[in-house]
Amino acid sequence: MNILAIESSCDETSAAVLCNGEIRSNVVTTQLVHEAYGGVVPELASRAHQQTILPVVQKALADAKIAKKDLQAIAFTRGPGLMGALLVGTSFAKALALGLDLPLIEVNHMQAHVLAHFIEDPKPNFPFLCLTVSGGHTQIVLVRDYLDMEIIGQTLDDAVGEAFDKTAKLLDLPYPGGPLIDRHAQAGNPLAYEFPIPDVPDLNFSFSGIKTAILYFLQKQTKTNPAFVAENLADICASIQHTLIKILLKKLTKAAQQTGIKEITIAGGVSANSGLRKTLQETGADNGWQVYIPRFEYCTDNAAMIAIAAYYKYLANDFTNQTVSPLARMEFGV
Ligand code: KG4
Ligand code: ZN
Repeated sequence: MNILAIESSCDETSAAVLCNGEIRSNVVTTQLVHEAYGGVVPELASRAHQQTILPVVQKALADAKIAKKDLQAIAFTRGPGLMGALLVGTSFAKALALGLDLPLIEVNHMQAHVLAHFIEDPKPNFPFLCLTVSGGHTQIVLVRDYLDMEIIGQTLDDAVGEAFDKTAKLLDLPYPGGPLIDRHAQAGNPLAYEFPIPDVPDLNFSFSGIKTAILYFLQKQTKTNPAFVAENLADICASIQHTLIKILLKKLTKAAQQTGIKEITIAGGVSANSGLRKTLQETGADNGWQVYIPRFEYCTDNAAMIAIAAYYKYLANDFTNQTVSPLARMEFGV
């Protein structure tokens, strides 16, 4: 059974081919046009998707050595994401399915981040918790089965990836700043500066306060020493990263205690953060957790995760039709 999957929710155009549950190809192109603007520009993202989607799909099929006539289904990201960007992938998938007379499978991007854990071994056992951390979302998901998931905690304002990117901007680092904070943090002291840990009820998060706290801190320091950031960049980055990780792990630990679940996973772009990966392993060892972290290329946006999610939907006979349209906001189970 061969599925072609397409991902176009933000600034990565990606296509993957899955054959009998195994990923055969996963082509990802990241749009560089946004760098000059310090963030993703939705209209430019849509245009770049239009330009790259055909060669990306052709390369995914060629890499997998699968002809279009050998496909059994076409899968695509229906949401959440940028409307114009989603429209490109959705329209392309619909047209291809119509032309080839194949069934269509719609995939929720956030559920796909969770299911990226089933691309390779070792795979988590149900039920497990997944901390899904990306540029647009921060969620703790209780995963009972492949297609049975519930969000038990989430951010009330900014996503943690946004907190990384926005504080990086305050430090004059280019977009996306998350990986750069990670790199500079490696040479710094995580306890050099202290930032407040927000007091948010239940299993929810808030990241807007810390961004403001860092802004005021930098304003105060640069008033007395204009070269403060340049002189202390590694320590500042390490302290910011340490605080963000502390906020994430505090709630993840609480979720594990409340549910009694010890199978713990992370997913999404921020799970590429080396400090988070290391701290999660240490916290897991302290608490007797079994920790699962996907390979880097399956953490950031990719179509392989869309393909694996589509595989489980195919097995469950869960298809959509030609009247489907994308959803910028999309709940689980839609
Ligand atoms: O999942 P993703 O690729 O796209 C979305 O669906 O948003 O996540 C992108 C986010 C960006 O905010 C980026 O700065 C962050 O992931 N990110 C990182 C690292 N690598 C990517 N944040 C911190 N450390 C990293 N190493
Ligand atoms: Zn994502």
